[in-house]
Amino acid sequence: MTIPLSSPDITQAEIDAVTAVLRTPRLSMGPELASFEAALADYHSVPHAVCVSSGAAGLHLALLTLGIGEGDQVIVPSFAFIAVANAVLQVRATPVFAEIDPVTLNLSPAGVERAVTPRTRAILVVHTFGVPAEMDALQTIARRHNLVLIEDACEAIGAQFGDQPDLRRAGCFGHLAVLGFYPNKQLTTGEGGAVLAHDPAHAARLRSLRNQGRSQARSGIGDWLDHAEHGYNYRLSELACALGRVQLSRIAEMLALRQAAAERYDALLRDRPVSGLELPPLTLPRRIISWFVYVVRLPEHVDRDRVHAALARRGIATGRYFAPIHLQPAWRRHPSAVVATLPLTESISRRTLALPFFNRIAASQQEEVAGALRDAIRSVI
Ligand SMILES: Cc1ncc(COP(=O)(O)O)c(C=O)c1O
Repeated sequence: MTIPLSSPDITQAEIDAVTAVLRTPRLSMGPELASFEAALADYHSVPHAVCVSSGAAGLHLALLTLGIGEGDQVIVPSFAFIAVANAVLQVRATPVFAEIDPVTLNLSPAGVERAVTPRTRAILVVHTFGVPAEMDALQTIARRHNLVLIEDACEAIGAQFGDQPDLRRAGCFGHLAVLGFYPNKQLTTGEGGAVLAHDPAHAARLRSLRNQGRSQARSGIGDWLDHAEHGYNYRLSELACALGRVQLSRIAEMLALRQAAAERYDALLRDRPVSGLELPPLTLPRRIISWFVYVVRLPEHVDRDRVHAALARRGIATGRYFAPIHLQPAWRRHPSAVVATLPLTESISRRTLALPFFNRIAASQQEEVAGALRDAIRSVI
């Protein structure tokens, strides 16, 4: 593709930091891990950050750490990346798909309330596309029903929610929160993720589980083969942590570039509007958006796949963010999917298309995308 959907923003500083690690004997569990974790905790104003090998690994460990398991129900959105529901299956619990808010595209508090049953143990809320969910309302529901609240902030590093001046970063509201650092994300480590925790016992359990159940209390060379519980290899390498540490030091600059790119799309597409094409809101009350992707809603009855194909023929990549999880081949026969009644999720997801979006996207590339999108919509109407 001439214009990709996403592209990481790697400078000489990241290259230098990763190269410096390669000149040391310490390629895993070393000083870069400690400093990246400290910087992540500091950025989110939480006491603990535990790096893991992916966002999906983080979701798995968050559910395990909070004791979610067989017989439990976890409320999740279906308008989300598939790892969200898969993580619930991994711990043998049952996902209950709930409806979204049509503006923020996040779990709606009313949809969550409707999904609560006596078996509900947790709400797994995703800050979709970097737009924070209605966290105060969700916290209230969680407290009222005695549920744990897990944030999936994989798409939302740097987003904020709250009333001025008490805006807080996505990731500090839940009992645990998960970050993801895949290369399409605002901050990348190649592959990677982290879990943010308030409770030191949760942090200790996360550190043990990501490291094959090795007990933190008994550290040191002699204890490397002592395993206190069944765990996983979800460690993040020193190279990845060095990359993440430098990326995090540039996060304000990177989010500003993304904000500017979103504003440029907005201006370009509002300038000569296409009837029925809906743009994502640039601002939303009580929220600071961390732009992950730029997702438009095509006019009703326009075949999204034909628009996608028409743009691809012009070398422009687009993404179907998101095909609902409950309609995915992997899920649609699962009992949770069969009972899901999600008219908003289904109607919105038929229309959503992510446009090329990354820190260094040029204004000229965005003009080309906007022009091609207009042409493609007209050609398939
Ligand atoms: C909302 C959400 N949750 C979880 C994940 C899983 O992250 P990873 O791909 O790092 O496993 C992703 C993204 O890729 C995501 O967008």
